[in-house]
Amino acid sequence: MLFDIITIFPNFFDSPLKIGVIGRAIEAGILEIRTVDLRDFTTDRHRTTDDRPFGGGEGMIMKPEPIYKAINSLKGGPQGARVILLSPQGKVLDQALAAELARCQRLILVCGRYEGVDERIREHCVDLELSIGDYVLSGGEAAALVLIEVVSRLIFGVLGCKSSAERDSFTDGLLKFPQYTRPRDFIGWKVPEILLSGDHKKVAEWRRRQSLELTLKRRPELLHKAQLDTEDLKYLRSLGWKEA
Ligand code: ADE
Repeated sequence: MLFDIITIFPNFFDSPLKIGVIGRAIEAGILEIRTVDLRDFTTDRHRTTDDRPFGGGEGMIMKPEPIYKAINSLKGGPQGARVILLSPQGKVLDQALAAELARCQRLILVCGRYEGVDERIREHCVDLELSIGDYVLSGGEAAALVLIEVVSRLIFGVLGCKSSAERDSFTDGLLKFPQYTRPRDFIGWKVPEILLSGDHKKVAEWRRRQSLELTLKRRPELLHKAQLDTEDLKYLRSLGWKEA
């Protein structure tokens, strides 16, 4: 899969993309991630990418011409490229949206800065406006990194063990169950007995129930979209859950 990142800070991506799962996937040729310096598409001496808003107001707006040219310079190549603008006004990223994006061959990520991007870019050049959460970052770069990591984990071959993505929180719409490792007893804090029993069926049942309980306690709204079977529903009802 190919990611092109349009940004005024290409260096921002240098070290995070070298390490861990993403770094290895790039080395293995499963992922290709390129940065495009937006300032290369400016025409003035100061390489200006922003300007004051028409109608007045605080802050600066990203000018349309450099972004338009940068996006157009990337057209062609693998079919099915989607142009994504990272911004707090976008659709909020979740695991289902990440899975949809992981089916694309190429994503072009436009990192906004300042008070936003000229609306004509949104209207005419962007396929999807995407936010990573209901808070405001100084720019889309950190959001682009999050998006790359979330999507890449779902691409075949990126994770060593396929099922580790399947066991992630949210894959079935629930939060992940608690995990333990050695020692069995750490300063008197013990690992739940069931996990030491060797009874795989009982362990799986315990984990499922822990996931359900945790989701009910912390993120009950997720339960309405989660994949639940009749056993799950029975257990949730026993905990006092009421379906809407
Ligand atoms: N740029 C600024 N805030 C953002 C957010 N929450 N998500 C994506 N891009 C952003």
